[in-house]
Amino acid sequence: MGSLRSMFCRHAMCRKFIIICCAVVNMVQSHEFYDLKPVKLGCEIRGIDIGNPIPEEVIEQIKKDVTEHRLLIFKDQHNISPNGHVRIGRWFGDLESSFFTQHPKSPLRDIYRVSNDGSEGLRAIGTTSWHSDCLYLPKFCSYSIFHVINVSKEAETDFVPLNEIVEGLSESQLSKWEKLWLVVIRKEVRVDHPLIYSHPESNKKVLSLPTGFVKAFAWDTGDGTKFLSDREGSTEIRNEILSVLKRRLEDLKYPHMWEVGDFIIADNQAVAHWAPPSSQKPRTEVGLRVLHRVTVAGKEAPERKYDSFKEKDEL
Ligand SMILES: [Fe+2]
Repeated sequence: MGSLRSMFCRHAMCRKFIIICCAVVNMVQSHEFYDLKPVKLGCEIRGIDIGNPIPEEVIEQIKKDVTEHRLLIFKDQHNISPNGHVRIGRWFGDLESSFFTQHPKSPLRDIYRVSNDGSEGLRAIGTTSWHSDCLYLPKFCSYSIFHVINVSKEAETDFVPLNEIVEGLSESQLSKWEKLWLVVIRKEVRVDHPLIYSHPESNKKVLSLPTGFVKAFAWDTGDGTKFLSDREGSTEIRNEILSVLKRRLEDLKYPHMWEVGDFIIADNQAVAHWAPPSSQKPRTEVGLRVLHRVTVAGKEAPERKYDSFKEKDEL
């Protein structure tokens, strides 16, 4: 009996050991190039210095990991110059810098420099609403790549995954949202984007969050045409989307507290972000915040690669 109990205990201990080992393995995934530690959204990456030229196969692995994890947070990157930042951006395609104004202290035309101090960078950028960058372009940006230059005390940027928001919708809400288009107007140029569309790399359903540039919504008729919602209807739709977002943020939001050396590659169509208003507290109170960003041009206009009307009929 005693030996049976001790055998059982040994078996239980062995099992516990295996579970602990598995937990550790899940916590830090390694491949030959660097270590990935999953965080609430995306992964922290350690064990690689991307400020130096790196082999093509490593670049390909990073691109795969961005598509899979959506947010890669490279830690301890103290060696990335502005030229290096731009070079990394070009791994993903052409850069898109036509839509922003360069701050006098931006080191390069392709670097957007933001700050909580107007003499150091553009103030109050991306602080009013959750968004994906450059939504107002016909092919909005595919990647946003951030390098923190100076870290203030409340230097936070928040991220949220977009596919999970779509997947959390009720069947009727999904069916309704899949018929909607955002009417985006900036500098008198109108661009229409589907509210829900297929991510160009993963093909998963994602959505575009309505920012201040979204002036109205339009409905798909199913025969290739659209009709514009009136002002009241558009306000109602916007409020519905923002209320779903607010509810989901409670469990989905990943607040990234910047640390010196952080360098983030974000899939701009898989995650949305914003800098909370607290990021703009004065330099005298929280210290200087400076962030550099590079944006990569989208390869295609957002598109539904499925027939939302057909899916509804088949349900
Ligand atoms: Fe932004």
